[in-house]
Amino acid sequence: MIVTTKKLFKAAYGKYAIGAYNINNLEQTMGLFQGNIDSQAPFIIQLSKGSRKYSDKAMLEGLIRSAEEVYPDAIFAVHLDHGDEETCYDCINSGFYSSVMIDASHEPFDENIAITKRVVDAAHAKGIVVEAELGMLGGVEEHVSVAEADAKLTDPDQALEFVERSGCDSLAVAIGTSHGAFKFSGTQGLHYDVLEEIQSRLPNFPLVMHGSSSVPQDEVARINKAGGKLLGAKGVDAAQFKRAAELGVTKINIDTDGRLVWTRVHREHLLEYPENFDFRKPGKVYMAEYAKFIAGKNEFLGSAGKLEEMRKYIAT
Ligand code: G3H
Ligand code: 13P
Ligand code: ZN
Repeated sequence: MIVTTKKLFKAAYGKYAIGAYNINNLEQTMGLFQGNIDSQAPFIIQLSKGSRKYSDKAMLEGLIRSAEEVYPDAIFAVHLDHGDEETCYDCINSGFYSSVMIDASHEPFDENIAITKRVVDAAHAKGIVVEAELGMLGGVEEHVSVAEADAKLTDPDQALEFVERSGCDSLAVAIGTSHGAFKFSGTQGLHYDVLEEIQSRLPNFPLVMHGSSSVPQDEVARINKAGGKLLGAKGVDAAQFKRAAELGVTKINIDTDGRLVWTRVHREHLLEYPENFDFRKPGKVYMAEYAKFIAGKNEFLGSAGKLEEMRKYIAT
């Protein structure tokens, strides 16, 4: 069942975070649904501009609608990740997305508000909710490239003004994470002090943490052992998710970790079975491993086991 993130956030706020996972293809979609059903968790599917281009946005929509039939018990939202204004309107008008992210965080403050407000007005007219971003994460996003050193943490006072003036429904905040497999260079870490300040100004308002892959070291070691070259990769300690959830983080975005599972499975498989050229064999292993990964992640988020509670909440 496709629901809005608004419903998911209301039920989860302050208690646990909902996992927001990016998908690009069939294997990821199957693994994602299976993992969330196995762990009995509500979840958010994220589609980036890149994923909508990779195959075709219609193909992704078809995949998700089919997955809904294969997994009728699943409860999830369909969300545009890091949209620009044009892509937001495309998704709003498609009638398929329950939520969009407008990412104008690279623009000056007033311009970010103006762009976000235009998207909010168009989305709310159709019952769609909007995530916006204030502050800048390190790493590379769709249309934003920011050196880690230049990453700008979210200013709590600005966060309040931004939400009031833009009317957005949730806010992605920069509190020290960055996108990709190489986070926390030097002395960087999560800034819970900033998060606390934001929550005190915006109580009960859902916050979003991007760039939250854990980049498990055993995964990185296996990839490198099987011929990969991911040197110095590291991520967010998943044990910190629950504290973040208590401080108002209700959506936690994870993409890179899923790519690492894919890379490990395929590198190891092709090394072990050099004669194989049937992609379904590693594909099947990947779906099972990705499902296992998702179920494990949901334990850290606190969303595991919350599916039936969410179903009842949605029915009220
Ligand atoms: O934050 C961006 C997401 O990880 C999506 O990545 O743009 O390569 O699909 P992508
Ligand atoms: P990671 O790739 O670092 O997990 O970040 C995902 C993300 O923020 C998607 O918007
Ligand atoms: Zn992101």
